[in-house]
Amino acid sequence: MNISISKATKTRIHEVDYTKLTFGRDFSDHMLVAEYTNGEWQDPKIVPFGPFEISPSMTAIHHGQSIFEGMKAFKSPEGNPLLFRPYENYKRMNLSAARMCMPAIPENIFMDGIKALVHLDSNWIPTEEGKSLYIRPVYFSFDTVIGVKPAENYRLMVFTSPCSAYYAEPLNVKIERHYSRAAQGGVGFAKAAGNYGGAMLPTKLANQEGFHQILWTDAAHHEYIEESGSMNVMFVIDDTLVTPALSDSKLAGVTRESIIYIARMWGMKVEERQISVTELVEAARNGSLKEAFGTGTAANLAHIAKIGFEEELFTLPDLPSHSFINRISTYMMDLKTGKIKDAFGWVVNVN
Ligand SMILES: Cc1ncc(COP(=O)(O)O)c(C=O)c1O
Repeated sequence: MNISISKATKTRIHEVDYTKLTFGRDFSDHMLVAEYTNGEWQDPKIVPFGPFEISPSMTAIHHGQSIFEGMKAFKSPEGNPLLFRPYENYKRMNLSAARMCMPAIPENIFMDGIKALVHLDSNWIPTEEGKSLYIRPVYFSFDTVIGVKPAENYRLMVFTSPCSAYYAEPLNVKIERHYSRAAQGGVGFAKAAGNYGGAMLPTKLANQEGFHQILWTDAAHHEYIEESGSMNVMFVIDDTLVTPALSDSKLAGVTRESIIYIARMWGMKVEERQISVTELVEAARNGSLKEAFGTGTAANLAHIAKIGFEEELFTLPDLPSHSFINRISTYMMDLKTGKIKDAFGWVVNVN
């Protein structure tokens, strides 16, 4: 793969306070850019991170042919940059692209491009526990003719951002029974930009009621739990790990799938099935709901401490040290940072 590299004249890393990292605010020196024009992909380039010019008639900002991904790079104890299951993000990006009627991205542009970018900016990867280099591929239409039709020109950009975990404290979530995130037959399974725009008002209203996030329910009846914000959700009910089964209205999380795999390997009973609001509320009421958490690349594993339903607020039991969430959080982080052996072939060494 021919990737041209034009290096930044000087690094900006010294402008970033690594002791005060948040999420999505600081950006590394370089970005990857690949264009689709004249019916084919052009060779990708790595260039200094920075703004680019767009026309007011650029179609992505009108009609939303825009999708993205999120993954993270970590440093192993030996100092090697590691990616966690990047091929899963590649596959999901093309699933999203197909649903949004966008050309598939060739594997070597995505995979080799990201490896080259992370390799070049590897000194931006934080080494402190809980911090990482977030990688954001974003792919959008670039036509300047604003008819509502699939575009002919597209652009893939990938940039990276040193960050800490998305949530700093245990979450209070609200079971949402009015607004919907995604409907059957829609684009909920795609990482489409508009899914996130549509979630902003309901999330803001929930924030105003004191909740961090929403627990979405199905659009048809608001009866079954779907997912939460930018996370899938899991519950430990009695001794069983229960999580909503995938469908076309939920994003198939890489973290979700990894946790299910490991939990089954540990001999835990795992159920991927419909979870009704009634079942969840009853389990919270009678104490059989032991743990609840969100799973995602940005959020890692986000402990849910309280669940709001109509006028009630359920406080979940304190977590014992051997709780599933504590064990799986440690295991996943050790795996991603190369502290334990990768028995699954999930970790990719960029060097
Ligand atoms: C809506 C939504 N659900 C779930 C997830 C979790 O997916 P993953 O574990 O692949 O990050 C994300 C984050 O990408 C998301 O945006």
